[in-house]
Amino acid sequence: MKKLAILGPGVVGGSCAEILLRDVSLLERSAGEQLELAYVLARRELPDRLYRDKVVTDFFVIERDANVFLVIETIGGCGAALNFVRRSLEAGKHVVTSNKQLVAEHGTQLLALAKAHGVSFLFEASVGGGIPVLHPLSQCLGANEILEVRGILNGTTNFILTQMLEFGQSYDAALKDAQSRGYAEQNPAADVDGIDAGRKICILADMMFGKNVDPARVSMTGISTITAEDAAFAESAGMKLKLLGRAIRQGEQIAVFVSPHFVAGAQPLAPVSGVLNAIEVLGNNIGNAMFFGPGAGGPATASAVLGDVVDIVRNPGRKQPVDWSAEPADLTDPDAFEASFFLRTKLDKAACEQALGEIRWLPDQNGFHGGFTGKTCRKAIAAAGLALDAVWPVLE
Ligand code: HSE
Repeated sequence: MKKLAILGPGVVGGSCAEILLRDVSLLERSAGEQLELAYVLARRELPDRLYRDKVVTDFFVIERDANVFLVIETIGGCGAALNFVRRSLEAGKHVVTSNKQLVAEHGTQLLALAKAHGVSFLFEASVGGGIPVLHPLSQCLGANEILEVRGILNGTTNFILTQMLEFGQSYDAALKDAQSRGYAEQNPAADVDGIDAGRKICILADMMFGKNVDPARVSMTGISTITAEDAAFAESAGMKLKLLGRAIRQGEQIAVFVSPHFVAGAQPLAPVSGVLNAIEVLGNNIGNAMFFGPGAGGPATASAVLGDVVDIVRNPGRKQPVDWSAEPADLTDPDAFEASFFLRTKLDKAACEQALGEIRWLPDQNGFHGGFTGKTCRKAIAAAGLALDAVWPVLE
């Protein structure tokens, strides 16, 4: 019998608690022994919840209970969550978290702390919600030099873009819908501004390239300036509009960024819609492999959290399967990243071509011109000094 504690019974923590209480024999079979939910740390009593008799309001109760084997952190952010995770590891308790901000910003130190105390720190649910991706990538693709990791890493924005583009829903209505389904962060600015996807591409880059990628050094652009015209241009070109996180090997350096992209219809990421996420990996031996599934939501994310719990209960003394060094990664300027770019503008077409070279124009939309440049970079486009309304890279 292993005693567990959950910190923070929000959308994900609440689902973990419910599954632990409901699927007792299934989890016992998976873990090889019984899992007992001993505590749920909340700010106040929760008399209407299934796990009401497990609720405690003081973390010290959990910290001092030497029989608590593992702590699940689903508080979010880097305030109390960071403090409690550190203290849990120092108290010799394994920790599983779904908190991507915590892992992206403090993962290197927390991995070292876990190692120093002979326990595991796992975070499968921090990237791609319920999709099993970190373990398969770190273990099964270990015989590859990774050339690129790219993905649709935020369920809320993919849901909003899909609702807007395919069902004509307004931005505000689609965001409300995503919030009511439990997809969005407490402050959805982290979703729509590309920060949540940014944290996840940093974790993937840390892991795939083996060095520390600090989110503060990564360019993150969200979906707030995407317009209905962009969507119409994408459709007329047989493409999709997607918010992508990308980490691309360039010799000994990596380009890491988040940006809306025009994605060619034949790309595997193009049909991934709604709350689904997908992570595509390009390796020198495997070629392309893609992992996809539900990227947000309580039960789906709890599935990944509890998968880590099962893993630790089965292999408590094992070397950390998902790890990277503390050495800072050598990052390139994302504005120097070369691709074809989509432009939206009301400027004279000939003047654009004079400044940027040949452009493949699409039929106008609502008085806007839209078209694709040849291979160039944001820096070169900016240097041309044109006041363009949108510049999005193309994944061809
Ligand atoms: N807000 C996040 C998303 C939740 O929409 O993808 C999962 O990390």
